[in-house]
Amino acid sequence: MTVYPLFIPTGLIIAVDGPAASGKTTVGLRFAKLIRAICLDTGIMYRAVALAALNSKIDPLDEPAVVEVAERINIQVKPASVKDGRSYDVLIDGADVTWEIRSDGVNRSVSEVSVYKGVRRAMTLRQQDIARAGNIVMLGRDIGTVVLPDADLKFYLNASAEVRAQRRYEEEKKRGVILDLSEVIASIKHRDVLDSSRKHAPLKPAEDAITINTDTLSIEQVVDRMIVEVNTVLRKHSFTCD
Ligand code: DC
Repeated sequence: MTVYPLFIPTGLIIAVDGPAASGKTTVGLRFAKLIRAICLDTGIMYRAVALAALNSKIDPLDEPAVVEVAERINIQVKPASVKDGRSYDVLIDGADVTWEIRSDGVNRSVSEVSVYKGVRRAMTLRQQDIARAGNIVMLGRDIGTVVLPDADLKFYLNASAEVRAQRRYEEEKKRGVILDLSEVIASIKHRDVLDSSRKHAPLKPAEDAITINTDTLSIEQVVDRMIVEVNTVLRKHSFTCD
């Protein structure tokens, strides 16, 4: 299938959920570009909370202090200003933290701070506010279930922990960082358990989500599949993008 870029936005609200390293960001950015929508990776917001707490020497287990940080900090996502492999700039209170939010310290504490009800409420309200204007692809864990339950289209991207770890390993290798693959697998499995077993807004597919297992699919194949589904929705409005 050949996919041509659209010249007018679809206006759709699209949720894309899935576990760590399931390819949501790569796929989501390409997909959003094709349908001329904004793409918001909500993982950035939880990572920003974890980083801001760490930088303020707050113990990730100190729930009230972490919630206060989540309510207070200003998080901005802007087009990339530096050509260093980033897809966008992430700023906390005006400071560039694009790479810091991907640090080991943040990777270790982000699932812990994401369990707090107050943190989730603060992030969910901001995400719902951003989505109100429509024409958005929102990536996360609970977008189809909690943040945007009325989304026009919901996807759930999945892949085995081994495949996801291999992809993360290759990504880091491209940046010159060599990781221990078995450690990456263990860390991904650990985050899966934390993300899907938490009490508030656990990671799970919405009942009406389209699940795509990406184990054996290329990025293009996943995006193509999503475009097919977008067309099904648009066809209802007599408007297609292929
Ligand atoms: O997608 P990611 O790996 O960058 O997400 C980082 C963490 O943020 C993830 O371990 C769980 C949390 N998260 C969440 O709880 N809800 C979301 N909508 C997005 C991310």
